[in-house]
Amino acid sequence: MNRRAIVAANWKMNGNSALVDTMVSGLHNISLSDNVDVVICPSFVYLSELAHKLKENSLENTIALGAQNVSDKASGAFTGEVSTDMLQECSVKFVIVGHSERRELYKETSTQVAHKVATVLNAGLTPILCIGESESERATEQTEVVLSSQLQPVIDEIGIEKFKDVVIAYEPVWAIGTGKTASKEMAQETHQFIRQFLAQCDAEIANKVPLLYGGSVNASNCEALFAQADIDGGLIGGASLKVDEFSVICSAA
Ligand code: G3H
Repeated sequence: MNRRAIVAANWKMNGNSALVDTMVSGLHNISLSDNVDVVICPSFVYLSELAHKLKENSLENTIALGAQNVSDKASGAFTGEVSTDMLQECSVKFVIVGHSERRELYKETSTQVAHKVATVLNAGLTPILCIGESESERATEQTEVVLSSQLQPVIDEIGIEKFKDVVIAYEPVWAIGTGKTASKEMAQETHQFIRQFLAQCDAEIANKVPLLYGGSVNASNCEALFAQADIDGGLIGGASLKVDEFSVICSAA
């Protein structure tokens, strides 16, 4: 099955206008295989600026814009929230939903995450749905139970057919920002489990869903990870803030 590869940069609450400039100039001559989509997800504040700079450098068809979060409400008295309409006005195409930092620090539940996935899809945008287990859950062999409990509410909310427009990022929480990457074998085994879990509902759809790995991906380990049968790219945190390293990762996909 030939799925498109995706490399998505999650800048988290990092970066500034200078990084927007550096990244756009640095990626100007990036060599990408035809099968790869590159997405950059800066803070909301820099979306318009990045969109503008990409266009100025004729990169708007090479690099897509993503947001790190979204409201599940359309508009109204929700101080601090950002809607899908607002994101679309900033040329956003992808939205990260349910990142473990949102689940852990801001107490987003899998039910809320499922509502957000539905909202993003209804707006015609592509959700990057993040799932992953903690270190203690991995140690106590709860990984599959946890991943199932994060996926099932989304399947219940949107139905399996709509997964053809969903990207899933598997991010073991213990590997995020720690330098402890899952081995390629462990990552592949878990990705295979995720695909098989979806295949219980619909094998054809399961085969189409891009599954990204996230968690301390860097220039040295990306090639081995991306070579795995069920790993279709990566969601990159720290390494996406360094233009040279991010370019290597994009070229490896
Ligand atoms: O969204 C990205 C992930 O949380 C991975 O972050 O590459 O810094 O470990 P990291």
